[in-house]
Amino acid sequence: MSISKANNHSKDLIEKAVAGHDLTRDDIVQLLSLVGKDAEILLAAADTVRKQYVGDEVYLRGIIEFSNYCERNCLYCGLRTGNSKLRHYRMTEDDIIATAKQVKKMQVPTVVLQSGEDSFFTTAIICRIIQRIRKETGLIITLSIGERSYEDYQAFKKAGADRYLLKHETASAELFQQMRPGCKLESRVQCLQWLKELGFEVGTGNMVGLPKQTRETLADDLLFMKDMDADMLGIGPYIAHPETPLAASPNGDVELTLKVLAIARLITRNANIPATTALGTLDPEGRLKALQAGANVVMPDFTPLKYKNLYDIYPGRTDVGSPADIIAKLKNDLASIGRTILFGDGYRPGKTINSQTNI
Ligand code: 5AD
Ligand code: SF4
Repeated sequence: MSISKANNHSKDLIEKAVAGHDLTRDDIVQLLSLVGKDAEILLAAADTVRKQYVGDEVYLRGIIEFSNYCERNCLYCGLRTGNSKLRHYRMTEDDIIATAKQVKKMQVPTVVLQSGEDSFFTTAIICRIIQRIRKETGLIITLSIGERSYEDYQAFKKAGADRYLLKHETASAELFQQMRPGCKLESRVQCLQWLKELGFEVGTGNMVGLPKQTRETLADDLLFMKDMDADMLGIGPYIAHPETPLAASPNGDVELTLKVLAIARLITRNANIPATTALGTLDPEGRLKALQAGANVVMPDFTPLKYKNLYDIYPGRTDVGSPADIIAKLKNDLASIGRTILFGDGYRPGKTINSQTNI
């Protein structure tokens, strides 16, 4: 759908975004409010910019959820300490390495080690796991294990980790504190800054549909992502988990999430943006829709089947089957929208925003 079909004001705004001009908070609020044809045009514009800056190849990251213990008590999350119904697991080091070898075998170049905030996995243990994966598989390593000290992050980098995911979740300091008791947005931002300083490729991102969230706070999320100059952006809908205090809070809206994702592509240009599992959970077509609205990354879950269902952040996660099945299905799905898998490193292509060299 072409921009010329949008109404005049929407058309100007979308054109401004496509041209890479800075958007104000109010511009973003207006883009988030687009509906119907205008919203479709926004998503299509993000798809064009995605193609221009990061190409048609979809980058893969293989996830291993190695522990579902978490010492935090976030109101929205099924792994919270307060969820006494959760059956816990921790993978052994050998299990983690064996799973990383599966990732390697499927030619996925990057592994994401993800867990709740679990201090059982001390700095020394995590470093040993990183070193073993590096030595035994050569995979690029991404960590997603929450807030730690500067010294920990430094040790992880030295051990061979390259990337770190730490979603800011919401840029509203007040909402952040309500949703994550005992945590502060400020500390999270400090962690992200440390990670950047240490030379990690850094990922951040938000949830769409948290209670009390507004279009204005979503616009702040997007401005935060741009200011952070993050390399990766995870944007997913909130999904209600029955064993949390937010059980009665409605799920996030898929269309709104896609608009947030599209604007993230338009304002960051070359960031790596996954089509999140949460989108695929709320809508069977969610991941493919995201890949046509600015996303360029898919993160297949390699967690062994016996643990996968226990990583119960939110209900209904669908990525089941063996790694080979998951990759085969993904290839088919991607072919149906004219996309292919990139088996290269998948670093953020060119780092300078709005630079011609990225095209
Ligand atoms: N719905 C959607 N995403 C969630 N996360 C945690 N709980 C939920 C939920 N109920 C996401 C958060 C966090 C990651 C571990 O999972 O964004 O960063
Ligand atoms: Fe723990 Fe992260 Fe879930 Fe919060 S969102 S309870 S820190 S796993």
